[in-house]
Amino acid sequence: MGIESSCDETAAAIVRADKTGKATILSDVVRSQIAEHKDFGGVVPELAARAHVVHLDQIIARACTNASHTLSQVDAIAVTAGPGLIGGVLVGLTTAKALCAALNKPLIGINHLEAHALTARLTNNIQFPYLLLLVSGGHTQFIAVTGVGEYQIWGTTIDDALGEAFDKTAKMLGLDYPGGPQVEHLAKNGDKNRFKFPRPLLNRPGLDFSFSGLKTAVRLAAEKIAPLSEQDVADICASFQHTVTIILAKRSANALERFKQEFSPQNPTLVVAGGVAANKAIAKALDNVAIQANARLIVPPLNLCTDNAAMVAWAGIERFRLGAFDDFSCPARARWPLSEPDMHVLNSKSKFESAP
Ligand code: KG4
Ligand code: ZN
Repeated sequence: MGIESSCDETAAAIVRADKTGKATILSDVVRSQIAEHKDFGGVVPELAARAHVVHLDQIIARACTNASHTLSQVDAIAVTAGPGLIGGVLVGLTTAKALCAALNKPLIGINHLEAHALTARLTNNIQFPYLLLLVSGGHTQFIAVTGVGEYQIWGTTIDDALGEAFDKTAKMLGLDYPGGPQVEHLAKNGDKNRFKFPRPLLNRPGLDFSFSGLKTAVRLAAEKIAPLSEQDVADICASFQHTVTIILAKRSANALERFKQEFSPQNPTLVVAGGVAANKAIAKALDNVAIQANARLIVPPLNLCTDNAAMVAWAGIERFRLGAFDDFSCPARARWPLSEPDMHVLNSKSKFESAP
C-alpha cells in the first residue's frame, strides 16, 4: 500500500508486483484539495494538513475496497515521509506508522521525489539508467536515475519551479488556481510572438533553470498594457508558454547530450514527470528533442505524472525488494534532497553483494 499527503492531494493505492517485476495497480484513489485552496490562489499549508486529517482514513478504506483487499492482506505500507508541507507529511506518516504497528507490517518511508523518479519503471518497466525531467508545482530538475536510491541531480531551478511560474503568471492575469491548465487553454488563441520575454540562463553552461525574471517580465508587460483585453491575456499566455517551451527544449537537448556522453546507452531514455508534463505544447517540443537526439521519450499517463499514491506504493515495492525498510523513528522531513546518500539502500545492497 502507498500513502501520499505531502501537498494538496490525499491519496492511497494498492499495487501488486509479480516476481518478474510486472506491476498491477489494484487501486489508486486521489482526493484533490483544489476546491479548499482555490479562493487563496495557492495551497495553504494549514488547510491542507487539516483536510488530510479529515479524509485520509476514508481514502485508505476506499483503496482497500477498490482493490478487494483488506489492510491485513498488504505486505508493507509505503508512505511519503518528505519533502513537502510538513503538516501534511506528518498526517500520512503518523497514519502509516499506526497502521504498521497495529497490523505488524513493515514501514517504508519514501522520498516523494524518488516516487516520481521511479514511476516510469511502474508504467513502462524501463531499465536503469535513464534521464528524468521532473517539472511540477514544487520542482524543476534533471535527474540521472542510475538505480534505486541512486540519483544524480544535474540541474535544478535556482528560484521558482516551472509549475509555480505557470501558477503565478495565471494569478497575475486574474486566472484561477491551478494556473497551468488555464494558461495552456488560453494560449491556444494567443499570439506567441507578440511579447519577447527573457529566457533566463538559456545560453549559460550547465543545466539549471531560473523562472523568476520571466515572471517579473510578464508582470511588467501586463501592467504596461492594462486594462487587459481577452486577446491581451491570450497573447501573454501564448508568449509565456512559448518562452518556457524553448527553455525546456534547449536544456533537455543539452541534458540528453551529457547523458549520452556519460552513460553511452544504446537507447537513451528521457522520462518527463510532474504536473507540467500535462502541457501538450511542452510535451510536443520534448518529443522533437527526443527524436533529434535519437532518444525515447516516456511521459507516464497524466494521473501517474501528477501526485498520486500508486507511485509511492511502487517506490515501496522497489525498496521492499532490496530489504530497505524503516523503523518507527522514520522522521517527517520538509526538506529532503534526493542527492543525499541513501544509507538504507546502500546498506541493503552491500548485504546482498556480500551474501554467499
Ligand atoms: O505534480 P503536480 O500535480 O503537483 C506538485 O506540484 O507536486 O503539479 C502541479 C503543477 C501546478 O503548478 C500546475 O499549474 C501545473 O502542474 N500544471 C500545468 C498543467 N497542468 C498542471 N502546467 C502547465 N500546463 C498544464 N497543462
Ligand atoms: Zn509531486
